[in-house]
Amino acid sequence: MPPALDHLDRDGIRAWLTEDDSAALDALWRRADRVRRAHVGNEVHLRGLVEVTNYCVRECAYCGIAACAGPLPRYRMTHDEILECARQGRDFGFGTLVLQGGEDPGVTRAFMADVVRAIKQETGAAITLSLGERSDEDLRAWREAGADRYLLRFETTDLALYRRIHPSLAGTVSDRFGRLLRMREMGYEIGTGVMIGIPGQTWDTLADDIWAFRGYDIDMIGIGPYLPSPRTPLAGALGQELAAAPGEQVANDELTTLKTMALTRIVCPDTNIPSTTALSILDPSAGRANGLCRGANVIMPNLTPPEYRVLYEIYPGKAAVHETAQALADGAVSLITTLGRTVGSGPGGRRS
Ligand code: 5AD
Repeated sequence: MPPALDHLDRDGIRAWLTEDDSAALDALWRRADRVRRAHVGNEVHLRGLVEVTNYCVRECAYCGIAACAGPLPRYRMTHDEILECARQGRDFGFGTLVLQGGEDPGVTRAFMADVVRAIKQETGAAITLSLGERSDEDLRAWREAGADRYLLRFETTDLALYRRIHPSLAGTVSDRFGRLLRMREMGYEIGTGVMIGIPGQTWDTLADDIWAFRGYDIDMIGIGPYLPSPRTPLAGALGQELAAAPGEQVANDELTTLKTMALTRIVCPDTNIPSTTALSILDPSAGRANGLCRGANVIMPNLTPPEYRVLYEIYPGKAAVHETAQALADGAVSLITTLGRTVGSGPGGRRS
């Protein structure tokens, strides 16, 4: 018998992660959906995603735009191009704009502060930034300019694994945990998350990760399957070296992703959880809907212009270039309606 769902602790989460009885799992899905409805309601918030730069100084072992992922055409959007996407998001009715990119020193503190101020002024949208491990001075300046939230996935709480997949830059040690806490003190809503099934991730560490979401009282939690990205170390020799023993290694499949989302919803009842693009790539016909029915309450339609989107391939299949921003936005709205949910209005923050 799997543990009761009403007082889940870390060991209960661990037991549920490897549960495979379909009647038990039905109970898990129902519970996650009920908790979602009770705490964040039927609204699904749309966040317009703009991938502002694919330059990156980091060498994260899994990421297709990492500095080590081979020569790649690089781009950095201009102020006006980003503003144009923000206007489009406003016209689609999106309450939040997410500006995401590689960790790119070419995106300077002053440049991004200007962009944030201009977007706030023109659209009034909530602004989420996701630009890597920037300095406290950058983060503070952007907060003062009006940024509301910051996304920085820690990917794993297993520190030995964390260090292997996030090599430090010369002179600095990668510390996403410390940054998240400092950003919270600066007044940001903070978002983090993990990929499911990275080599070396065990059922025990994944249970620790989910429990840490609660411990850190995270406002936004992104969970998607790990999709091996060609030319990255984790897709090659490093992945083979790190892989845990069969039976302990977490699978990078849809079921495990959905279990993680459902358990996360149950232990973090009022957090914002997106149904991720990576999940929809693993299961193009139903991934997005399955996520929404098992805990998620957010979708992030891509507003990046197609000529840039094609270059932002952090994992294979990510760059759905044949779809216009309008088609992606319409698709999200029709999915929400089909599921009997409503399109969220307003900024849709956890605290606002
Ligand atoms: N597979 C799946 N997700 C990935 N990300 C980066 N590389 C991969 C990959 N190979 C995720 C990271 C990042 C988010 C935008 O995409 O978790 O935070």
